[in-house]
Amino acid sequence: MTLTLALESSCDESSVALVQDGRSILSSFVHTQLLEHAAYGGVVPELAARAHLERLPALVQAVLAEAGVGPSAIDQLAVTRGPGLAGCLLVGTGLAQGLATAWDRQVLGVNHLWGHVYAARLTEAQLEPPLLALVVSGAHSDLVLMPEHGRFQVLGRTRDDAAGEAFDKAARMLELGYPGGPLLDHAARRGGAGRQPLPIPALPDLGYSFSGLKTALLYRIRDLGGVQRLSPELRDDLCAAFEHSLVEALVRQLNRALTLNPVPEVVVCGGVAANSMLRRRAAEVVGRRARLTIPPLALCTDNAAMIGAAAEYTAPGTLAVDPGLGW
Ligand code: KG4
Ligand code: ZN
Repeated sequence: MTLTLALESSCDESSVALVQDGRSILSSFVHTQLLEHAAYGGVVPELAARAHLERLPALVQAVLAEAGVGPSAIDQLAVTRGPGLAGCLLVGTGLAQGLATAWDRQVLGVNHLWGHVYAARLTEAQLEPPLLALVVSGAHSDLVLMPEHGRFQVLGRTRDDAAGEAFDKAARMLELGYPGGPLLDHAARRGGAGRQPLPIPALPDLGYSFSGLKTALLYRIRDLGGVQRLSPELRDDLCAAFEHSLVEALVRQLNRALTLNPVPEVVVCGGVAANSMLRRRAAEVVGRRARLTIPPLALCTDNAAMIGAAAEYTAPGTLAVDPGLGW
């Protein structure tokens, strides 16, 4: 049995978790920095790093207290070393290194993207490669094949905006407030996608591009007289249309990737996997061809438990922070 204390601080969630054997969560806390950034309409890296510094030590104590264990019970530490915001990653790795030195334990530097995929293993303990993963977050829209544990092959990725970024920008254009993605998801449920249809982005390979869809929304808002002139109903319809086009683009490529790589397991993960329409459409598209695992909402958005899960297959190596770390 391996008990891992995991830390996540790559963006605007400060999180600490205690994970057993990379599969079960003994305790987990997430502090979302919504209030810190709401006034600016987006994450301010300096403020995020400072908030991590203030929050993480208390979260470590809370996790240990909830699990009822002391440092002596912990076998190893794990921390996100990238990709993410440099200052934020430095706070997490610095704290993890400090604890590891004080407790005389090893600390593993974990890839945040691996974490999103391994989050699925916290709900499906039997999940094994080969698997296909659609990783959709604020910074990534990647289709990856995982032939074996700890090995990833990128089949396609976005050429411009990430799916979450596109959701956030659309929400800003429609003046929905912050955080954009979940608010747009909510508004879309009230609207009708067919009343203001927008184009569905399509590329010949397995990549994505959302800039054209974003521009189409911008022009549509302008043609309708500007965002101030939109009735609440019309705004909801535009949300539904934007969500429909973006989600269809995501699942059509997922469908093609699965046809080209008929593996038994599919994972949809990352913050955008919290989107209700994506969850429904991914299930329809995958159908009976493979088992689909979409982590519960709390494990889709950034959290430390997923870092503890990915640590299981992370080899000891550098802790050096890498903001642009790839697969
Ligand atoms: O994985 P994540 O928590 O952080 C990154 O690693 O980027 O993803 C955050 C992204 C944000 O862009 C947010 O707007 C989006 O996920 N998101 C959603 C929903 N919940 C979060 N997008 C659409 N619908 C949602 N329900
Ligand atoms: Zn993430």
